[in-house]
Amino acid sequence: MSDPETLIAAAKRARENAHAPFSNFRVGAALRATSGRVYTGCNVENATYGLTICAERVAIFKAISEGERGFDAIAVVTDSERLTPPCGACRQIIWEFCGDVEVILANLAGQKEIRRMAVLLPEPFDSSFL
Ligand code: THU
Repeated sequence: MSDPETLIAAAKRARENAHAPFSNFRVGAALRATSGRVYTGCNVENATYGLTICAERVAIFKAISEGERGFDAIAVVTDSERLTPPCGACRQIIWEFCGDVEVILANLAGQKEIRRMAVLLPEPFDSSFL
């Protein structure tokens, strides 16, 4: 996997834009496309709570809406001691568009771990079942 630090730095910057007045849990994500371009996202909360969208999905939908297809890795950055893995909904969406990519989990203290999507989402449902 090439250069996780670049992706972590991009996710950290995106995290600064998080709109998280309800949870105060700010998340940044950065997605590397096979084209080389990086797409970022932050969590965007809503007073209804249920309409909140996670940083990972913002990054993916930005990339898809720009016409990008094919991804190598996604980084997720929070300020928590325990590194934050993507939620269940995001795992499904990451699998849909990125498949078995590397998921880089990092925090502001400089800790970092790398997982694979096939480990985070075993036996996924996808279009191969349709
Ligand atoms: N959140 C993310 O953006 N990504 C994750 O991987 C976990 C959760 C957001 C959603 C919500 O705004 C806040 O974190 C607390 O759940």
